[in-house]
Amino acid sequence: MPRIYIETYGCQMNVSDSELMLGVLVRDGYVRTDDPAQADVVLVNTCAVRDHAEQKVLSRIGELKRLKRPDGVLGVVGCMAQRLGPRLLERVPQVGLVVGPDGYRGLPELIARARAGERSAEVVFKRWEHYEDIPPVREAAASAFVTVQRGCDYRCTFCIVPMTRGPERSRKLEDVVREVTDLGRAGTTEVTLLGQTVNSYDDGTHDFADLLRAVGSIPGLRRLRFTSPYPTDFTERAILAMAETPAVCEHVHLPVQSGSSRVLKRMLRRYDRDRYLEVVAALRSAVPGIALTSDIIVGFPGETEDDFQETLSLVELVGFDDAYTFKYSPREATPATRLKDPVPDAVAGERLEGLVAAVRGIARRRNVALVGSTHEVLVEGWAKRGDLLQGRTRTNKVALIPGPDTWIGGYHDVRFTGTTGSTFTAVPLGRVQGRGRGRGEELAVVG
Ligand code: SAH
Ligand code: F3S
Repeated sequence: MPRIYIETYGCQMNVSDSELMLGVLVRDGYVRTDDPAQADVVLVNTCAVRDHAEQKVLSRIGELKRLKRPDGVLGVVGCMAQRLGPRLLERVPQVGLVVGPDGYRGLPELIARARAGERSAEVVFKRWEHYEDIPPVREAAASAFVTVQRGCDYRCTFCIVPMTRGPERSRKLEDVVREVTDLGRAGTTEVTLLGQTVNSYDDGTHDFADLLRAVGSIPGLRRLRFTSPYPTDFTERAILAMAETPAVCEHVHLPVQSGSSRVLKRMLRRYDRDRYLEVVAALRSAVPGIALTSDIIVGFPGETEDDFQETLSLVELVGFDDAYTFKYSPREATPATRLKDPVPDAVAGERLEGLVAAVRGIARRRNVALVGSTHEVLVEGWAKRGDLLQGRTRTNKVALIPGPDTWIGGYHDVRFTGTTGSTFTAVPLGRVQGRGRGRGEELAVVG
């Protein structure tokens, strides 16, 4: 049986797409390998959102082409494949196929062609494509990603995604419910619904509120997450559905991009600073204790020092639990490349440093205040270092806890005992016994 190796870069939707590609190829008789040198087919699932992401992938392709077996096939798939198409074939002669996000069901045929020496680029958008008939091949795990919407119809002026993922389309609610029901039967208890503007979900009959309520009531589902929502696509119905659906977790990733209304306008975001703050207030009042994270860009063309100060003040005002921070990266053919007044790289670099420090400071303050509080965590596996387990709260905080590996995939109540500022140390509750003074730091695990 031919062996397939897939390496994934970029966002959660790429992780989900890689599971889908495995589904396509396993159905075609492939088996999976974790060793690219052993693989008959190596696929690199790529990101195009920033130049840095593309450079990283290009250098990795350079390594993989040397590992490639003489009769093996190297393919580039995903957003960078879509963006560059045939240009990628010209640039890297060892690449046998280039396939964008709507072309994955054609993989077996394109691989066969590449084997026969015919290199091809498949980059046509298919508005109908949901891969509904292809069961993704996932690692058996407590958590799963489920794509509910593909593409994006927004036109944020900095963003390449509409050009790499094509028009927005939502899967049928019944299809999503069927997939999550099957996952539940197989032991999955946490699901993250994925879409570029996931809360604009609309299958023609059902909206995002219906989706949350329907998925949230599937037996066995304990935690429901979604990413990423567009700030102004939260309807009152959707916020109510979040509040009334117990499985929906108390965390929203709410990309703001900038705290300056002037910059937001040039980004073609559909809200200004005040409107964003209103959405934050509505979420906080409906879902007490909700954690908020964000994406923020600095150095967007025309961003002045005052604009940047507005971003800092918004970060402070909202008090994000965390944020991904980016220096603006011009993307070929996006509208922002035509805007005047580029921000010098050194200035953008300084702003990024200032923003990172502000985000960290606020996250630390919030997290220090949580030391001593108790949370339910889903244990995901072993932490990277040491002999502790890593768990995640409903609010998406990461905690390291002592415990046996039989806890992996299960839910446990813990008390936070300390924080690095971003992650926590914790001890399990319930199965603990007092030693000495019997509380807090003196707790020891038994059993
Ligand atoms: N709607 C998608 C956005 C995908 S891009 C989602 O939220 O899932 C993810 C993040 O990358 C964006 O929110 C933005 O902050 C950042 N980003 C996108 N294009 C960028 C660019 N040209 N330069 C810097 N950061 C960018
Ligand atoms: Fe990109 Fe804006 Fe869509 S950030 S993915 S164009 S909502």
